[in-house]
Amino acid sequence: MKAIVYDRFGGPEVLDYREVPDPKLSQNSVLIRVKAAALNPADIALQAGLGETHTSAWFPVIPGWDVAGVVDAVGPGVNEFVPGDEVISYIREEILHHGGYAELVAVPVHAVVRKPVKASWEESAGLPLVGLTAYRAIVQTLAVTPQDVVLIHGASGGVGLLAAQLARNAGARVIGAAAMSNHDLLRTLGIEPVEYGDGLVDRVRQIVPEGVTAVLDCVGRGTLRATATANRADARVCSVADAGPEIVTVFARQEPDVLRHLAKIMDDGELRVIVAQTFPLREAANAQRTLASRHSGGKVVLVPPG
Ligand SMILES: NC(=O)c1ccc[n+]([C@@H]2O[C@H](COP(=O)([O-])OP(=O)(O)OC[C@H]3O[C@@H](n4cnc5c(N)ncnc54)[C@H](OP(=O)(O)O)[C@@H]3O)[C@@H](O)[C@H]2O)c1
Repeated sequence: MKAIVYDRFGGPEVLDYREVPDPKLSQNSVLIRVKAAALNPADIALQAGLGETHTSAWFPVIPGWDVAGVVDAVGPGVNEFVPGDEVISYIREEILHHGGYAELVAVPVHAVVRKPVKASWEESAGLPLVGLTAYRAIVQTLAVTPQDVVLIHGASGGVGLLAAQLARNAGARVIGAAAMSNHDLLRTLGIEPVEYGDGLVDRVRQIVPEGVTAVLDCVGRGTLRATATANRADARVCSVADAGPEIVTVFARQEPDVLRHLAKIMDDGELRVIVAQTFPLREAANAQRTLASRHSGGKVVLVPPG
């Protein structure tokens, strides 16, 4: 099969588009023919070698954790899917080796979920990691309710856009910090936009003088500390992008039931994945450069040939 691989750590320049052996299919796995694979900032960070303390890389590495595709074959222990089924998966493993920037990927059946019927391949591929992360933050950690006013830093990014919609679905009022160019998009999703940067706290306080009751940070780099006075004293706060002794950091988990739920609410029209840009698989380096700008305005997605 054709895949994007890297043989050493580095930036987009280490990515190579080449022929590699097809993945092997073990007893309880599903072979997926990839129709679309989404990028995430973690792909870029791990490729740069920033995950070496917690994740081993077995070179050559095929990056990528998010796929949508068609079941090509199933292992003899699998009765949940048959060839031809349309599926999505968060394919993260404990090692970096068999990723989603490829024509085929073999995935343990417990990580495979049916694709949302009404969404495109690109939208579907854009759901797993950001969806699982947003759900873990908004529903499982902050436990947002209709009484909340939620502030989301990075509301226009992959995680933020889904988190903001989940918070709206929970009945909360949602303030989304984003660049001006993304404010119209946020308004269409029922989110009240506010521009980030100097003066953010004052702008939030103008909208919510009593302070926000819950905060999700999808930006990091000290954002929570710098904006703490926008929050009510008893606000619940967490981050998906920062860590430290006073920070509740949330990490996505492999939770197929949650992914199934998110796919369902996409089909019900309650959740939209915004695809900012798609690239052919062989142009993964340019796709990474677009995502690394941190202003892509939604998901960046690769489409394999055929
Ligand atoms: N913990 C986990 O499990 C987990 C999972 C997924 C992601 N993450 C992390 O969460 C973060 C966001 O991921 P993502 O996929 O949403 O990234 P993304 O799609 O690239 O979004 C980046 C966001 O940051 C905003 N931003 C850029 N520069 C900014 C600045 N100077 N000040 C304030 N906001 C700024 C962007 O706003 P504009 O575009 O409007 O400028 C955009 O909303 C990354 O650090 C990623 O590694 C963690």
